[in-house]
Amino acid sequence: MSDIMALVRLIVFFLLRKGVLCASDEYKVIVPSKVTVQEGLCVLIPCEFRYENTMERDGAPHGYWYIEGQEEVVASDDVNKEILEDTRDRFRLVGNPRKRNCSLSINDIRKSDGRDYYFKYENNDIKLNFSLFPLHINVVDLQDTPDMFVQDLIEGKETKVFCRAPGRCSGTPPNITWNMDSELEYEQRNYIVDNAGGSKTHMSRIIFNATRKHNNKSLKCTANFSSVNRSTTNITSLNVEYPPSAPVIRLFITDEGGSMSIHKSNSVVIQEGVTYTILCTVDSNPPANLTWMKGEYILEESNLPKVSNNLQTSLLNVTSKDIGSYRCEAVNKHGSSRGSMNVTAQSSESRQPSKEGTGCATLSIEVLVAIMVGITLVMLLLVVVSFCVIKTIKKKSKVGESNMKEASDNIAMDSIYQELQGQQMHIYSVLKKEVD
Ligand SMILES: *[C@@H]1O[C@H](CO)[C@@H](O)[C@H](O)[C@H]1NC(C)=O
Ligand SMILES: *[C@@H]1O[C@H](CO)[C@@H](O)[C@H](O)[C@H]1NC(C)=O
Ligand SMILES: *[C@@H]1O[C@H](CO)[C@@H](O)[C@H](O)[C@H]1NC(C)=O
Ligand SMILES: *[C@@H]1O[C@H](CO)[C@@H](O)[C@H](O)[C@H]1NC(C)=O
Ligand SMILES: *[C@@H]1O[C@H](CO)[C@@H](O)[C@H](O)[C@H]1NC(C)=O
Ligand SMILES: *[C@@H]1O[C@H](CO)[C@@H](O)[C@H](O)[C@H]1NC(C)=O
Ligand SMILES: *[C@@H]1O[C@H](CO)[C@@H](O)[C@H](O)[C@H]1NC(C)=O
Ligand SMILES: *[C@@H]1O[C@H](CO)[C@@H](O)[C@H](O)[C@H]1NC(C)=O
Ligand SMILES: *[C@@H]1O[C@H](CO)[C@@H](O)[C@H](O)[C@H]1NC(C)=O
Ligand SMILES: *[C@@H]1O[C@H](CO)[C@@H](O)[C@H](O)[C@H]1NC(C)=O
Ligand SMILES: *[C@@H]1O[C@H](CO)[C@@H](O)[C@H](O)[C@H]1NC(C)=O
Repeated sequence: MSDIMALVRLIVFFLLRKGVLCASDEYKVIVPSKVTVQEGLCVLIPCEFRYENTMERDGAPHGYWYIEGQEEVVASDDVNKEILEDTRDRFRLVGNPRKRNCSLSINDIRKSDGRDYYFKYENNDIKLNFSLFPLHINVVDLQDTPDMFVQDLIEGKETKVFCRAPGRCSGTPPNITWNMDSELEYEQRNYIVDNAGGSKTHMSRIIFNATRKHNNKSLKCTANFSSVNRSTTNITSLNVEYPPSAPVIRLFITDEGGSMSIHKSNSVVIQEGVTYTILCTVDSNPPANLTWMKGEYILEESNLPKVSNNLQTSLLNVTSKDIGSYRCEAVNKHGSSRGSMNVTAQSSESRQPSKEGTGCATLSIEVLVAIMVGITLVMLLLVVVSFCVIKTIKKKSKVGESNMKEASDNIAMDSIYQELQGQQMHIYSVLKKEVD
């Protein structure tokens, strides 16, 4: 019985040497049949091979990785073997064939690497062709994005942001770049972390002083894999925290006809019997706790957790006891600010002319017309004046700057409208008119 087995083994061995047979525990390559890799990245494919070595004498063993169906060698530990130009230095037989290790490493993976490969082992006695155990490399598009790590961003504090390129490879290093605002001063340092096993991780760090201007801006980190001309980007939105700005206080007047007007001055003269609404607006992140106070009395407090940087309070049907100083206080975890509006009563004499007449409605229209004419005149004057100024100064950059300022004011007002829309449609429309 054992003689027959020995004979069978011998036959099998010779068949294997010719690459005819494979189905044996004693003759095989243990390697994944399919490996998926992203273009530009790398892979280390573990591989072991086995065969019956009864007849082997020890002599000059070498391993070779071939392209399926071709005589081209992509990697070998045999320095005398010619290696395919396209794969030289990128494909490496990192396993030791003497230890029956055929592990293969590939760097800077290209789309053209996507094919089948097989291993061959040779020494002075035997040539083992393992083409029946092919390894398929599947190359897909670069999908991984860099990882970004952002420290807490607080206005005026130095902040670090890190970016780590995908892949732990030892091939061509990716180039990491940022979309930093050119007006923002920052320091960039790119560095390499050596991992166990010889692979490298590529990182970049930027340091900058955050300001409220950067809040909600997007920061991008891009890793460019130049060997395959592919890049990958991750993006993060900056959340810069800052203390509340000085409050902007506006006063809205609802007259007897129900129409509204708006005052921005910090000192206002009131008329008895009229209803006023005062609105306090700050810029802060996170949103501030807002309080309207008169002396030591709290008139209104923002109702947290409602997120808003606006708080209004109403003075209904005012009387002389409503005169005084109204204070708006804003506080968040980074600081506080306050502003006030002084309310004084109009003397009865100066009030008298505007109170004469009978029909309130007609009066309102007259006043409105007068105001409109006044506004139109003032605007005309402004247009003429600014035209002259521009003509004489001829400084295009300054005009650009002031336009920018207006635009940003409009943006700020728009966000106020949105918040007010929920609160009081009326104020919203008045504010909108004011800006338009
Ligand atoms: C084969 O070689 C690779 C690369 O040197 C190594 O990482 C792996 O552990 C080896 N495998 C075995 C089974 O020794
Ligand atoms: C290995 O065997 C396959 C199938 O028999 C053959 O096509 C290929 O040429 C052989 N490779 C080498 C290097 O002998
Ligand atoms: C960006 O990086 C972060 C942090 O590592 C990660 O959680 C996130 O998934 C990445 N974004 C994308 C779009 O991949
Ligand atoms: C990385 O990109 C920057 C900006 O494009 C360039 O100035 C720099 O030379 C590049 N570095 C390398 C190593 O390619
Ligand atoms: C940040 O500000 C500090 C002082 O305020 C300054 O010393 C430092 O150079 C600034 N850092 C950067 C990156 O501009
Ligand atoms: C931040 O930016 C996003 C998109 O640009 C916008 O939808 C959002 O309203 C902004 N948030 C703030 C608080 O400005
Ligand atoms: C590299 O990629 C960029 C962007 O995809 C493209 O504009 C450029 O032509 C490419 N360069 C080469 C050499 O293929
Ligand atoms: C990568 O960087 C190189 C050199 O800066 C540039 O020519 C190429 O277009 C970049 N590729 C991509 C895909 O951005
Ligand atoms: C309001 O009046 C007080 C004193 O009456 C004064 O100290 C304060 O500066 C005034 N505030 C405004 C905004 O005019
Ligand atoms: C306003 O107050 C006066 C005096 O207290 C009162 O006579 C009048 O009815 C009030 N008007 C309204 C609309 O509440
Ligand atoms: C804002 O108000 C809430 C609720 O009253 C309070 O818990 C929180 O501490 C306040 N925040 C600040 C910064 O004062």
